[in-house]
Amino acid sequence: MANGRIVSGYRPTGRLHLGHLHGNLARMIELQNEAECFFFVADWHALTTDYQDPSMLRTYTDEMVLDWLAAGLDPEKAVIYLQSDLHEVAEFQLYLSMITPLGWLERVPSFKEQLEQLQGREISTHGFLGYPVLQAADIAIVLGERVPVGEDQLPHLELAREIVRRFNNLYGDTLKEPEAVLSKYPRIPGTDGRKMSKSYNNYISLADSPEEIHHKVMLMITDPARRTRKDTGDPEKSSVYQLHKIYSPDKLDEIAENCRTAGWGCVDCKKLLADRLIAALEPFRERRRELEAQPHLARDVLADGHRRVEPIAAGVLQEVRLKMSID
Ligand code: TRP
Repeated sequence: MANGRIVSGYRPTGRLHLGHLHGNLARMIELQNEAECFFFVADWHALTTDYQDPSMLRTYTDEMVLDWLAAGLDPEKAVIYLQSDLHEVAEFQLYLSMITPLGWLERVPSFKEQLEQLQGREISTHGFLGYPVLQAADIAIVLGERVPVGEDQLPHLELAREIVRRFNNLYGDTLKEPEAVLSKYPRIPGTDGRKMSKSYNNYISLADSPEEIHHKVMLMITDPARRTRKDTGDPEKSSVYQLHKIYSPDKLDEIAENCRTAGWGCVDCKKLLADRLIAALEPFRERRRELEAQPHLARDVLADGHRRVEPIAAGVLQEVRLKMSID
């Protein structure tokens, strides 16, 4: 089990931010040294909510691959591919859809939430309801056992396990039950204190310039009790402090103390964070610039990844077809 296959996917929605990096990507980068890893761009999943205007999918896909590589995913170690290149997944999710009760899908919390939140996007579709079935197919097509994800994905993982279990009960042991792997910091606060997310527009991108980083950090929410420079604060209530835990581990006691005693103002604390972030992200920006100079790189990586994952997926699909008497 410890060396079981690892699989994860990201919807291509734009540039990666600190929430991706610490919520999950850092863990993926570690895991590529431990076991066989399959990391893919989930462009079909992006279509479930963005089918009305898919014009940015290609661009976002390439950008995400370059961000992944610049952050440290290594195509020599991990198999990196595009979901829609792997046609086996589409056929497999059809079979899984046969055995997935509607009630299981309707009860996924993100299903109801998104229907309400994404009003105007008309996502009461077959495809959107089936989102978790497709995700289960993504995982089981390579017999994935460990799935590094952010904590928002836990209900989807639970459902994937149930679908796999049902398949195995009906047709005999074939697929592996996957389990989620969470990172050390599963929830990164954005500049407004809510979870960092593209849809809240509260994120710091890995590629942000020093000026942008500085500007965004200065806007960040700290302990609301510190209304004036003299008010003392509770560092745990400050988003700035949460990021200091990652970027200033050597100074954490000093930062907390100066917050509690009002030794520093919030601006002092933010300046330190901005400096740390700018320095820490500099190698990413530099590497990203180098990679951008190779216009075919993202495409080449995805094509090579597809070549490597395809025989594995074809083998699993053949077994599935056999078990379901479609052979
Ligand atoms: N649903 C995931 C997200 O929104 C993306 C995803 C699709 C995924 N298929 C997956 C993650 C398979 C892990 C495994 O982030």
